Amino acid sequence: PTVVFIDPQGAEHAVEAPVGRSLMQVAVDHGVPGILGDCGGACSCATCHGYVDPAFLPLLPARTETETFMLEGVPDLRETSRLCCQIRMQAELEGLRVQLPDEQV
Ligand code: FES
Repeated sequence: PTVVFIDPQGAEHAVEAPVGRSLMQVAVDHGVPGILGDCGGACSCATCHGYVDPAFLPLLPARTETETFMLEGVPDLRETSRLCCQIRMQAELEGLRVQLPDEQV
């Protein structure tokens, strides 16, 4: 499946996202600017913050308590905010769009 990351400058990066791989890993694998993943996916850094397309929100697993706690530290928390390391690619997420915030550049 394909996921589209929109970097903080507005450039779109359509990349191949293998099923089971986290969206953070997928973005880092492809060198997408605007995502860091400093903690390696342990849900403890919040440098993999992204805003997901609201249309896909119902398809995603709910935020865990830890994710909610970590998101409280991001500069511009929104309803659509997620930590990309906590979302694993699934076939149903084909075409998912994730906007990356300014704070991770
Ligand atoms: Fe650190 Fe996602 S990579 S919280």
